[in-house]
Amino acid sequence: MTDRETDGHGGQAGDTDDGTESGTVVRGERFRGGPARSFLSSLAADERIFAADLAVDRAHVVMLAEQRIVDDGVASEILAALDDVEAAGHDALPDGEDVHEAIESAVVDRVGPDGGRMHTARSRNDEVAACIRHRLREDLLAAAAATVGLRTALTAVAADNTETVMPGYTHLQPAQPTTVAHWALSYEAAVGRDTARLLAAFDRTNRSPLGAAAFAGTPFEIDRERTAGLLGFDGVVRNAADAAAGRDFLVEATTALATHATTLSGLAEDTLLFANRGFLTPADDYASTSSIMPQKVNPDTLELVRATAGDAAAGLNGLLTTLKGLPRAYNRDLQRATPHAWETVDAVTEATEVAAGAVATADWNESALTAAAGEGFSAATGVADALARAGLPFRTAHEAVAAAAEDAEAALDDDDPEAAVDAVDAAVRASTGEAVEAYVARDRLAAVLAPATSVAERDSAGGPAPTATTEEVTTARAEVEADETAVADRRDALAAAAARLTEEVDDRV
Ligand code: ARG
Repeated sequence: MTDRETDGHGGQAGDTDDGTESGTVVRGERFRGGPARSFLSSLAADERIFAADLAVDRAHVVMLAEQRIVDDGVASEILAALDDVEAAGHDALPDGEDVHEAIESAVVDRVGPDGGRMHTARSRNDEVAACIRHRLREDLLAAAAATVGLRTALTAVAADNTETVMPGYTHLQPAQPTTVAHWALSYEAAVGRDTARLLAAFDRTNRSPLGAAAFAGTPFEIDRERTAGLLGFDGVVRNAADAAAGRDFLVEATTALATHATTLSGLAEDTLLFANRGFLTPADDYASTSSIMPQKVNPDTLELVRATAGDAAAGLNGLLTTLKGLPRAYNRDLQRATPHAWETVDAVTEATEVAAGAVATADWNESALTAAAGEGFSAATGVADALARAGLPFRTAHEAVAAAAEDAEAALDDDDPEAAVDAVDAAVRASTGEAVEAYVARDRLAAVLAPATSVAERDSAGGPAPTATTEEVTTARAEVEADETAVADRRDALAAAAARLTEEVDDRV
């Protein structure tokens, strides 16, 4: 019979039940995975939570010592061993089913059987849940920070372009003139909600499941609030079975990311269309060329940003499908749920950073935008509004302008606004029996046909008029700054907790 010390694997290599009692030597020998060993193992993927596991181990050991569950001498030896394991790095870990088991084995290798006391009053089930939450917190803050960066870029584009008229589209048809500022602010607002969703996901993620043990608590007198505090969590996940098994925080985070990726895909698509129409030129850093067609400048980065919505939807779908129908409490399926969240957060955060760079550096072509802004008689709604403001029922005005549309558009294409006014006049006479001047002076109509006037008159709150967008820029800047602070405050709180934990450990080693 081999004992724990000599087999060097901390005695829990195959403890698939993972209760708080360590397995017997016989069980340790039996459940080594056999041919399925690599199938069972998450050790490689767990590199992502290596640092989190060390933090969780340290907080747990500090608490065990404070509660006199483990004596100070042993605690200090375990904490010193953890420092050593950290210095050696993830790649130096002994073989193991996962990072939790491998780190425990590495501690036992250094400390001897007393190292196995680290796993008192806990299970890998609450441990892994704590590690995932611990790591996801910083990833969610990085994602939120990226959205703030994108909003900063969009707000700067808006501030520079409150007077830059451009065509606005519905059904991809020229609809009404708008401005680059109004377009950019429309995405800033949507990304602002994405930031809020990511921060809300952070706040619900930032709760400690530690102390739940396998799912059913422990007879040891642990202090769950203490480990939560040492790890910078805002509190505990109260119910132990929920704490060990619940992964809705992953769904929530991934949903926030997928929602944002969908926003991003629209932003990328618009930008690609604008590049196609010559409205903007992406900076060389965000474009690539063709291996055969030497003249090509392809906005590939934005196509990849657009495609990221696919990665995010796949991640969310993978997660939901894996979690669907899982019974309480812990099931090994959960091991395969986590990577969906990592892949999604990485893909979406990178795409957000790239989109911010592409937006910040794109060159807007004002003359192409102005020329296109009036295309397709896009001032038609402004003409109907002018007639309705002069007392004509809006529907009558709408129909008269519709009747004039073809001739007016042709006249405007010929750069002849007078002829466009004639067309409207003829239609108004046909429908009301009165000349257009009975309602609106001809020169006023001619003015309304100009995209810049059309835009300037739509000064209702949230509209494209420079007065309205200037106000919106001020609001957006304040909101971006507030969210920047919200991210920084959370990062500071995590850093402060990490520093306190280091102090507690240093005092004991
Ligand atoms: N590697 C596992 C996971 O990611 C850790 C928990 C293992 N627990 C168990 N009972 N086998 O979920």
